[in-house]
Amino acid sequence: MKVPESVLTEKRDTPMETMRSFERYNLLLNGQVVRTPIALSAMAGIVDADYALSRSSHVGVAFLGGYSIDKPTMEASRVLEAGGRREFIFDDPVEELSSQVSRMDGSGLVCGLNLRGSSPESFTGIASQVGDQVIYEIDAHCRQEPMIAARAGEYLLTHTDLLAEEIRALKKADVCVSVKIRAGISPDDRRLARKIWHSGADIIHVDLMDYDYQKVRQIRNSCPLVLIANNSMNTFDRVRDMFAHGADLVSLARRADERTLAGLDAAIARYTDEHGWYNSPKQLCRGGDVRALTFCCMPVKNCPLIPMLEKVGLSREEYMRFKEKAVAGTPLEPGAQTCFGSLAWCCKDSSPCMFRDMTLVQVGLSRQEYMRLKKQLADKIVQHLFSLHADPDTC
Ligand SMILES: Cc1cc2nc3c(=O)[nH]c(=O)nc-3n(C[C@H](O)[C@H](O)[C@H](O)COP(=O)(O)O)c2cc1C
Ligand code: SF4
Ligand code: SF4
Repeated sequence: MKVPESVLTEKRDTPMETMRSFERYNLLLNGQVVRTPIALSAMAGIVDADYALSRSSHVGVAFLGGYSIDKPTMEASRVLEAGGRREFIFDDPVEELSSQVSRMDGSGLVCGLNLRGSSPESFTGIASQVGDQVIYEIDAHCRQEPMIAARAGEYLLTHTDLLAEEIRALKKADVCVSVKIRAGISPDDRRLARKIWHSGADIIHVDLMDYDYQKVRQIRNSCPLVLIANNSMNTFDRVRDMFAHGADLVSLARRADERTLAGLDAAIARYTDEHGWYNSPKQLCRGGDVRALTFCCMPVKNCPLIPMLEKVGLSREEYMRFKEKAVAGTPLEPGAQTCFGSLAWCCKDSSPCMFRDMTLVQVGLSRQEYMRLKKQLADKIVQHLFSLHADPDTC
């Protein structure tokens, strides 16, 4: 795997550190290497550049804000502040946001701005002046009445045409776009995710509320966007559950203290160094998401693979041909001693198997390398399925 030249010249971690992060997580956002798949989630009146910088050792991404960026939302912020909530209040959003963004320069963090706006022009007005070095996160999450009345926040989850227009406008401005949603507000989160994807967004950032990993899997199976899971991601067990069902990153707000972040960062790094693929899915028959097809056997028995193939509109022959072609010429091609004659069909590293392990020794692959190759195969599968506009959701 080659690190893109551009990321080595950035003013951030040393090139060696950047290379190490890229090799470990293989995660780029807005063209920048993500140091660790942990993000700071926005909290209005609290998460600014100073707050993010004081936690920069153990996070990879920081969504600053939320910031209200036009007259209706700034007025809403004033009403909220008068009611006792903390808000960022300023007269000139461009000046304030530019200043916050420049403070993040050289921090090694990928920076995002969580913004509340009431029209596409409000977002593009900011993007055209603040520039493309940050991710623009549309706040479709805030449930405070004055913000909803200003056609921002959660309003967008029930007025998705406006949300789609805002995404499209930002993408026209050629910037990286994230959408922060709250699960369970839209009548159908699968349709919402697909609409966000088809409108051109890059990232979907979901506050799971009372939902668990099943919601993550549902969204993962609905769109190929980078997926950030949020809400109470305070223990490694919970984080691993999210990763195993489709999350690319997790984010924290209320418990984003040094101790929690450092513990998660270390545990994720340890797991990755041991297993090679930090967010590997569970096997399909154990409830894994669409990426789990990378571990699936040939379709020879009655098991969850069959309904999954039907869902995604792939015949058994097409599925077999696709996997065979995808591994041709790679170290996953051989495997005469394995069940189906190739490592392409072999199980996850956590399933004990002496035949697979013997083959790995023969072809000179470590278990970590095996899992990294399985990830590459999963990426190809996901890309192919979503290029067919399939909906592999089985929940
Ligand atoms: C005081 C406070 C302010 C918040 N402000 C915002 C905001 O402006 N924009 C936003 O998208 N989410 C906002 N959130 C939601 C958080 O980003 C996050 O989604 C939520 O707190 C759940 O994550 P947690 O369990 O890690 O706290 C806020 C949360 C809190 C507690
Ligand atoms: S093909 Fe194999 S791994 Fe996939 S669901 Fe069936 S039994 Fe499980
Ligand atoms: S050889 Fe082992 S790892 Fe490969 S498919 Fe058979 S049981 Fe799974």
